[in-house]
Amino acid sequence: MIEKTYCGEVKPELDGQRVKLAGWVYSNMRVGKKIFLWIRDSTGIVQTVIAKNIVGEEVFEKAKKLGRESSVIVEGIVKADERAPGGAEVHVEKLEVIQAVSEFPIPENPGQASPELLLDYRHLHIRTPKVSAIMKVKETLIMAAREWLLKNGWHEVFPPILVTGAVEGGATLFKLKYFDKYAYLSQSAQLYLEAAIFGLEKVWSLTPSFRAEKSRTRRHLTEFWHLELEGAWMDLWDIMKVEEELVSYMVQRTLELRKKEIEMFRDDLTTLKNTEPPFPRISYDEAIEILQNKGVKIEWGDDMGADEERVLTEEFDRPFFVYGYPKHIKAFYMKEDPQDPRKVLAADMLAPEGYGEIIGGSEREDNYDKLVQRIIEEGMNPKDYEWYLDLRKYGSVPHSGFGLGVERLVAWVLKLDHIRWATLFPRTPARIYP
Ligand code: 4AD
Repeated sequence: MIEKTYCGEVKPELDGQRVKLAGWVYSNMRVGKKIFLWIRDSTGIVQTVIAKNIVGEEVFEKAKKLGRESSVIVEGIVKADERAPGGAEVHVEKLEVIQAVSEFPIPENPGQASPELLLDYRHLHIRTPKVSAIMKVKETLIMAAREWLLKNGWHEVFPPILVTGAVEGGATLFKLKYFDKYAYLSQSAQLYLEAAIFGLEKVWSLTPSFRAEKSRTRRHLTEFWHLELEGAWMDLWDIMKVEEELVSYMVQRTLELRKKEIEMFRDDLTTLKNTEPPFPRISYDEAIEILQNKGVKIEWGDDMGADEERVLTEEFDRPFFVYGYPKHIKAFYMKEDPQDPRKVLAADMLAPEGYGEIIGGSEREDNYDKLVQRIIEEGMNPKDYEWYLDLRKYGSVPHSGFGLGVERLVAWVLKLDHIRWATLFPRTPARIYP
């Protein structure tokens, strides 16, 4: 490995020191007998200055032709200079061209390219500074979640991705041949996490989840990263507390560590700063009333889609919960509300600023007979869920859990206009390449 100084480390304090940078050309501008070559690496961008009288005619001519994303190694002396980005530049003494590029398919300001071009060239797009910033924010949110989970006694487990049953409805399953049988790609680790609580009580996993969602919305991917928690001895209200504490910690820690990156996307940090427990809680009934008062055509019993949720988020300046959904719009495993059998003990967490659902969670049906009945009502075969039903036969306990869509959280934190920008190589109905 080359011993180098990272661009992010070039500061005015290094004035007078010799450094070696290795990276890619971000921009190349000639002014008279000088070339201002901006060099980018994983940590930032540094202005380097190539003067003909120092490097000589031949190297100067070579440098002139370096297009964006040419790979180079330069050595030179740091000079503090207020005019340079970061307050320092490097005066080049040696330039080594690893590969010269004449034309890079992505424009200097990727915002000027069409989304289709950026997605076709996603393998090149992901090296641009804004995409790197998104990936750093995503990494930090997950790192923060791990910190919180470790501190609070949650065990990480590693559930399978190849599975035999639906969790979130058969319509969105990806089916694949599994030797002489069929299997599916997991929609959610939940059922396996439920099995794991009997040994470990508080468990979590981070896995890819797959949904053959035909809906082409700004918030659906066919493959997304799913952070799921399941806790024994917890009711719906307990798990909602866990959700708000976890999400607050993730957001606050990321604000602390990645403010610079977040500010590349957001002028206003208010909703992020407001993300502290307790989050507002409204019932589904109240949500319907708010929507009707705002002129939305919706009746009690209807599911809320992205449009309805967007209107609802106008009422809040921080994430909030909607709880107590009608049974018939929610999944079979949710526990019936003992106060009102038309409803289930479920709550979604919605992000403000139009983003809507980022978490789906519930208390689970822990009674064997009721669970069998729900499976049959949903038109499924209890035989397919034999192992899952066993969990209600051998020491069943009250328990609750939830799933957080990592890309949905990133999209809100950075106010992205589409969830596809929150993942390295997005998978949507129209796109599985590159
Ligand atoms: O509400 P969902 O479908 O709930 C479950 O899968 C539960 N079994 C999770 C659990 O309780 N362990 O999905 C949970 C979250 C959603 O709130 C959303 O953030 C995200 O997963 N999600 C998607 N993200 C991107 N693209 C999709 N197609 C998504 N579907 C769900």
